[in-house]
Amino acid sequence: GTRVLKADRDGIAAAARCLQAGGLVAFPTETVYGLGADAANGEAVARLYAAKGRPAFNPLIAHVADVAAARRLAVFDAAAEALAAAFWPGPVTLVLPKRPDCPVSDLALAGLDSVALRVPDHPVAHALLTAFAGPVVAPSANRSGHVSPTTAAHVLSDLRGRIDLVIDGGASGVGVESTIVSCLGEPTLLRPGGLPRAEIERVLGRPLAAAAVPTDDEAPVAPGMLSSHYAPKARLRLNADGVEAGEVLLAFGPPLAHAGAMLNLSPGGDLIEAAANLFSHLRALDASGARNIAVMTIPHDGLGEAINDRLARAAAPRP
Ligand code: TXA
Ligand code: MG
Repeated sequence: GTRVLKADRDGIAAAARCLQAGGLVAFPTETVYGLGADAANGEAVARLYAAKGRPAFNPLIAHVADVAAARRLAVFDAAAEALAAAFWPGPVTLVLPKRPDCPVSDLALAGLDSVALRVPDHPVAHALLTAFAGPVVAPSANRSGHVSPTTAAHVLSDLRGRIDLVIDGGASGVGVESTIVSCLGEPTLLRPGGLPRAEIERVLGRPLAAAAVPTDDEAPVAPGMLSSHYAPKARLRLNADGVEAGEVLLAFGPPLAHAGAMLNLSPGGDLIEAAANLFSHLRALDASGARNIAVMTIPHDGLGEAINDRLARAAAPRP
């Protein structure tokens, strides 16, 4: 079952312990309720995607307590510094180049080299992030396809029994998700949200660029939308039922007979474990210098749909 906690000292402490143990905790922010997981724990992140029933792995926003914590995860240019100084804590998310030692799991970043960061302006969120003392990824705490929750009751109606805890901190004040600005180049509006565009443009002293494709966390990412989406250098051969000369193997379940290098997404055939391992295993096989990767068949149910989506993208011919 899902426990409802009061937003007091004991509740916050219990929620932080739950996150440390890999649990899923819904908590209030000023925009909407978020469904939080330890950003560095790939299996917790995989369970989060499963609980939401997301059709695909979209990258998640990492929430931190303050700007100092954000600077440890990503690189801030002048525009990003100006926006953080003006608006954090507050309802704007900045997409920034991640630092090499950024602990956020590859799964939460969908394999990207950038990370979306947010410092929420809510006393309960702030207390939880301070107690946990690490980045917490948190999409809106709703089932995929439903509107975002602004109360603990909304969260329960969508996710009761699918998550560990909800901290009841009353209704979210802003009620729409954060504005997302990419600071990877010219500052670009990826999603309109709780912080009006004009306030951002006033601080920047120039208009925000328009995104080629607006972001929509409830829809599968259009192919090519994330142009820097991780794609291995090696060629992938999907649904392999044997391993050919010169191939390494990405296995799922009992592996095919094979003498060479092999990594297993989940020896026990668990799709949640496989999702947690997908990007890191692809990276590791790529880093080994393999030119060709045979990938065993992954079932399409549950997280398998998203795993197969990512594998199909990684295997697609590149320009
Ligand atoms: O107000 C909010 O932002 C709420 C609260 C809980 O903080 N969170 C939220 O998260 O709305 P979510 O997962 O529903 O939306 C995150 C959006 C998605 O559209 C995703 O594609 C985008 O952020 N995003 C995350 N990382 C990105 C990145 N590196 N590059 C581009 N877009 C990114
Ligand atoms: Mg959402």
